[in-house]
Amino acid sequence: MKINHNFLNLQESYLFSTVGAKFAAYKKAHPEKNVIKLSIGDVTLPLAPAVIAAMHAAVEDMSKRETFKGYGPDQTCYGYETLIRSIRGSYARKGVMLNDGEIFISDGAKSDLANILDIFSAENTVLVPDPVYPVYVDTNVMAGRKIVFADANEENGFLPMPDRRVDADIVYICSPNNPTGAAYSRDRLKAWVDYANERGAVILYDAAYEAFIEDGSLARSIYEVEGARDCAIEICSYSKTAGFTGVRCGYTVVPDTLTREGVRLGKLWARRQSTKFNGVSYITQMGAAAVFTEEGERQIAENIAYYKRNAKTIAATLDRLGIPYTGGINSPYVWMKCPYGMKSWEFFDYLLENANVVGTPGSGFGKNGEGYFRLTAFATAENTAEACRRMEDLFGSR
Ligand code: MLT
Repeated sequence: MKINHNFLNLQESYLFSTVGAKFAAYKKAHPEKNVIKLSIGDVTLPLAPAVIAAMHAAVEDMSKRETFKGYGPDQTCYGYETLIRSIRGSYARKGVMLNDGEIFISDGAKSDLANILDIFSAENTVLVPDPVYPVYVDTNVMAGRKIVFADANEENGFLPMPDRRVDADIVYICSPNNPTGAAYSRDRLKAWVDYANERGAVILYDAAYEAFIEDGSLARSIYEVEGARDCAIEICSYSKTAGFTGVRCGYTVVPDTLTREGVRLGKLWARRQSTKFNGVSYITQMGAAAVFTEEGERQIAENIAYYKRNAKTIAATLDRLGIPYTGGINSPYVWMKCPYGMKSWEFFDYLLENANVVGTPGSGFGKNGEGYFRLTAFATAENTAEACRRMEDLFGSR
């Protein structure tokens, strides 16, 4: 018996587990301290009333013989038509027309971003921006794929553009970006779409944070860009859009026109999902379907506005302190430069010990993240304001 030796090439633990363990250890050592977590992007507002009502109704359905549901419909990989239709409707409002068979329901973006790799050869070269959401790198390390990096830094506004000297088969793009908060305009995204189409590469487009976009020139879906249907898979989630981090629901779009080696990638994904996945619960799917109703959209817009106000509070604090950052607008993340030239983990300890605030060290997202630090806007408004007040006390007299 041999283990998968690729796992030995991973960091000892997943970034957010390491941060969580350090937070827990500090809490244990200092139980009297009120430590504020602005680290993992986990939501704090309850689900929208429209979602709760739909879930209650679905529970009722499950309680009666006539309306009870077992496995979801297998012809759509267990996605209920009500939910698929509502996702189609939300895309149509962005000017993107999708077919029902192109939308696959899942338990969230993280799993799909990892699982989609099953349909690609381990011989492919993967292009990943640096810094980046660690899941893209770790899942490819597990599979033993060759990874090349596109530097995201201050010079390019944390938005790397394609370099035609670099040959890649799979390209990851996350916009608005986790961790930097930077977001691609349609024009810039077009350059990536052209790069992928020229080479026959596939873009895995992580749109988990699209609901935070307010600038009309930024793409909310890669399919707003001409040519993307021939090269891009889009992966999205209800986690940040509608507070589903603990409920779990997302979706992946594989256009019918996306083929490689004469094979439709949607067909491979359907085969993978029907074999290794049994769908998302009916109750969850009905809750998710309520997100894109008129009432649901109004309610989740209020929740997103709440988190955006938190992001603005953090950004305004950094402005006052003269600390450079990106994000905080069109994004729930603020990517700040560590003060005093500190390294990321050094600043993590400094902020934890002196302000009792936890964030995520930029170096955990890649080498270009060294010297940076990520704060999230998903805490409560009270905790966000308090964390900012503590940072002002700490850095105000620099
Ligand atoms: C993050 O903090 O980057 C995300 O919340 C993690 C995730 O969505 O898995």
